Amino acid sequence: MEKKFNRRNFIGVASVAGAGMTLGLPKTSFASRGNLSKPAILGGAKAHADNFPLWPVTDQTEENALNGVLRSKNWCRLGSTKVDSFEEEYKKLTGAKHCLATSSGTNALYTLLGALDIGPGDEVIIPVYTFIATYNVIALNYALPIFVDTDIESFQIDATKIEAAITKQTRVIMPVHIGGSPADLDKILDVTRKTNIPLIEDACQAHLAEWRGKMVGTLGLAGAFSFQASKNLNSGEGGAILTNDEKFAQSCYSFHNQGQGGREVSYSSGSIGTRGTNVRMTEFQGNLLLAQMTRVKEQADIRSANANYLTKMFNQIPGITPAKLYGGTTRSAYHLYMFRYDKNHFAGLSREKFLEALTKEGIPCSEGYGMMNKETYVTGLAKNRHYLNIYGEKTMNQWLDRNQCPQNDILTSEQSVWFFQNMLLGSRNDMDQIVEAVLKIQKYAAEIKKR
Ligand SMILES: Cc1ncc(COP(=O)(O)O)c(C=O)c1O
Repeated sequence: MEKKFNRRNFIGVASVAGAGMTLGLPKTSFASRGNLSKPAILGGAKAHADNFPLWPVTDQTEENALNGVLRSKNWCRLGSTKVDSFEEEYKKLTGAKHCLATSSGTNALYTLLGALDIGPGDEVIIPVYTFIATYNVIALNYALPIFVDTDIESFQIDATKIEAAITKQTRVIMPVHIGGSPADLDKILDVTRKTNIPLIEDACQAHLAEWRGKMVGTLGLAGAFSFQASKNLNSGEGGAILTNDEKFAQSCYSFHNQGQGGREVSYSSGSIGTRGTNVRMTEFQGNLLLAQMTRVKEQADIRSANANYLTKMFNQIPGITPAKLYGGTTRSAYHLYMFRYDKNHFAGLSREKFLEALTKEGIPCSEGYGMMNKETYVTGLAKNRHYLNIYGEKTMNQWLDRNQCPQNDILTSEQSVWFFQNMLLGSRNDMDQIVEAVLKIQKYAAEIKKR
């Protein structure tokens, strides 16, 4: 039987490569590459035959939480306690002064824009490399989403390009902490201070991520989080807003509760603002989140340790470049593990085939987001009758031109690869097997390409 590439090999090589990097030497290749077995795509055994940890993690705590609400017959947050308790706990966890739970992350963002009274004629700056919800909440308000290109090294919004995207109509700057890693908040905060444009952080993927020791989502006017099923904190659907601004917290509460009353105001008395909806969290979601939060810190530590290890290993493989973390990052949430693939170091093997080969090794992976600015769903906005009425054809055509993002085109068309947060809850052995899979594919890349 061929010898497996085991943890011990990696550790030996890691220390050699670490020394090499300090001396500014090129990446060292793994000593045991020669022992690698055939990739699964060519008929060999899988590098990773077991399952990665299933998500979400649950036990009796969740069953008790859900049954407790069921039996209480208090399922709505109005007049009940569980959502309130969750908000208190999430405040404590993040250090924010105010927390408002919502029915989803999208609705947390929608509430934020509603409380800011964003509407027709307004522009909101967002990264092009994000989930479609970031765009949708702007389009739902008939405002213009303005895309900023991606920093290809970090996968985050290129903060050096934000200022150039600002116009007299810009009402909000809304970066996203993609994959749970903070965008370059030093640069972004510089711009928001200089221009006085409010910063809303889309932290939907970034639970417990920190920038210079402060939780993301608390650095600007407000932040939005998602507790949708895939997220690091999960109640199936759910969301939350954090803010340190008392008055703004009241406006958000009112917007999310049909314009009725702020937190300290009885529901029948005066409303704040002139628009609202119902995006309240249910008591089931609130209590489920309290149960899930009993593990959230421990899980974050496991993800960090495994992600750091993967990065150390990947830094030794030519053609695999982990997404850069900016200097102010004191913690990434690692909702995604993101890296760039360079086929030139894999005998010209396309990313598509690389992903196929990884999947065959038992390593779930994805190419991630695409070119949102070029999708017909988005470009169609230029032909939307309401947008044409509000902005006119010339402005909408200019909008299409403004939204070009050449770096993002490169990243998404051929380089980006993702792993998922539940994989990072695996063992060190699981991480070693991920590395082994990549090394096998690299060694046999020319053969895989020919198949
Ligand atoms: C960056 C980002 N923004 C917003 C959302 C929307 O959150 P939800 O799915 O809870 O509505 C998500 C969730 O996938 C997201 O990843």
